[in-house]
Amino acid sequence: MKNVAQLPVGLFDSGMGGLTVFKALAQRLPTEDLLYLGDTARLPYGTKGRSTIVRYTLKAAQHLVDMGIKMLVVACNTATSAALPTLREHFSPLPVLGVVEPGAIAAASASRNGHIVVIATEATIAGGAYQHAIARIRPQAVVTGRACTLFVPLAEEGWMDGPLVEGIARRYLADVFHLADLPQQDSPQPDTLLLGCTHFPLLQGALQNVLGPKVRIVDSAATTAESVANELQRSGLMHPGQASGKYRFLTTDNTPRFAKTGAMFLGRPINEEELFLVDL
Ligand code: DGL
Repeated sequence: MKNVAQLPVGLFDSGMGGLTVFKALAQRLPTEDLLYLGDTARLPYGTKGRSTIVRYTLKAAQHLVDMGIKMLVVACNTATSAALPTLREHFSPLPVLGVVEPGAIAAASASRNGHIVVIATEATIAGGAYQHAIARIRPQAVVTGRACTLFVPLAEEGWMDGPLVEGIARRYLADVFHLADLPQQDSPQPDTLLLGCTHFPLLQGALQNVLGPKVRIVDSAATTAESVANELQRSGLMHPGQASGKYRFLTTDNTPRFAKTGAMFLGRPINEEELFLVDL
């Protein structure tokens, strides 16, 4: 029987986007074993209704819990927004961490003037989780949410820069950032863009080109990894060994596509021996 601290940290995402969080976690905690589940059969979650997202997320999380994990990290912004309290209640006392609070902390501390734009999927923006989390940390902040649905397929297609991507970004963001020839707005220019979706860090260069160098762009990957490290430390669950962590990737559909697209998010190839097809 394994000691709990020797179990892997489980990460869940609707697909392969959460590998941006996996990557940050592997860098921050190199001796931890990581078990990742991407529910590619049901991707995308971001255009679905709340109760469907909660149902899918519970099912996927149960699979990881049944395999044996010491902590669950919900790497998906949409799933975190819709299902975090339900997951915590359902799997108590397992520690369950999401990406919204860490992302909100990153944005609230990056912004100088307190005007923040959060971009995410339709479900995340509609649920208001980021807006509420930032308000708790920095009550005076003015937060504008904008759903950027097309960024998800663009990132998966590997279209991360160039005039087409910048044109779409401009169309989504022109009014909130007072770009181009729109009439002068009363509210101050936002100085921070929070990437509230796993896929959006891949488009960061294009977004920076559109918004200019004065706008700070932040995401939740690094701050989530930091929160996981703190929680493992606090609960005495840090892996006791010094060897490099072992990694397994589970997906619910189309392993070749997961490997191909996932490599862009992870920044390295995903090998056949570490990739498994599962049915939920
Ligand atoms: N992983 C989702 C998120 O971070 C994006 C993809 C989807 O819509 O499922 O919100």
